[in-house]
Amino acid sequence: MIDCNIRDSEISLLYSPAKAYWNQREKLILSKQRILKLYQIVDSSVDLSLPQWGQLFAFALDFSPDIILELGRGYGNSTCVFTEVANLIKPRSCEVLSLCKSSAWQRRTFPRLKRAVDKSWFAPLTALHTDILKFNFKQVLSNKSRVFVFWDAHGYDVAECVLGTILPEIAHKPHIVVMHDFVDTRYRSVQTGDYRLWRGGNSGYTRIRIGNIESAVEQAISIMDFATRNNLALHSADHSVRTELDKNRKTKLSQLLGNDLFSLDCCWVWFSLNEANIKYSFPIPYARKQEVQPYIILKEIVESILRYLPKGYSK
Ligand SMILES: C[S@@+](CC[C@H](N)C(=O)[O-])C[C@H]1O[C@@H](n2cnc3c(N)ncnc32)[C@H](O)[C@@H]1O
Repeated sequence: MIDCNIRDSEISLLYSPAKAYWNQREKLILSKQRILKLYQIVDSSVDLSLPQWGQLFAFALDFSPDIILELGRGYGNSTCVFTEVANLIKPRSCEVLSLCKSSAWQRRTFPRLKRAVDKSWFAPLTALHTDILKFNFKQVLSNKSRVFVFWDAHGYDVAECVLGTILPEIAHKPHIVVMHDFVDTRYRSVQTGDYRLWRGGNSGYTRIRIGNIESAVEQAISIMDFATRNNLALHSADHSVRTELDKNRKTKLSQLLGNDLFSLDCCWVWFSLNEANIKYSFPIPYARKQEVQPYIILKEIVESILRYLPKGYSK
């Protein structure tokens, strides 16, 4: 096996996309007709394939959060998946908070959906047309106890917000962060030969390949950096479904769900700081940098002085 920066040679003991697929198969079957209808209405399969609807449905439902934070809604594939999940979690409360600066949902998807589903189906969903970078996450997350984050808005600014603002708020609570648009090259044939250099941005045409991650989005760099600094595992869903489901279960799921909702190809990864009880290092959000800089410099000076004092002196 090639060296991994998806450091998941050890399967997570906490959460599992494969087990979720298996555990939630009956619920998936019950929701299948509605899922197919919603998928057609959203009509944007380039953003999320139908099997990915099934995989995310199962993973979120199995985790049973009290808030699903969707970062990046676009036409709203994942919005529909998570709203369906939140409706199934009832009578327990589960809110879907969807943030996006695109108006595609309000303009195109919502008017179509309104004609196809009951008004009550929208009850768990708050779909805001807003900039993630300006949102007050502290306020919203403070009274939540299980947080599922779908990180599908790309770019370094959003990455800084997720890693530097959202993660410190949820690190001490049960949580999962899922990232879309990450290929695990151990399970996908990738382009060989000459290639164009990836130069940042969120290019659809050029990609970076580092270790066993291939991606075209900038957050790939930020999360690999974060994971390396914190010795954190990035788990690929592709690896989970291939290694944690035995042959019988794969066959059974394929028969029950059909190829539309079941696939071993996932193209998403996830992580949780719940996996280790350590003090994590977070990036300092840029806007706060000026405020915190003098404090950090002072702290570093004090720490380096203490390091050279004879033992026992620092106390
Ligand atoms: C790939 S699309 C999301 C697709 C969606 N999750 C789905 O399943 O159909 C990414 C979205 O993130 C939005 N986005 C990017 N940066 C953002 C920001 N700073 N604030 C809010 N939305 C942002 C883009 O406008 C775009 O609509």
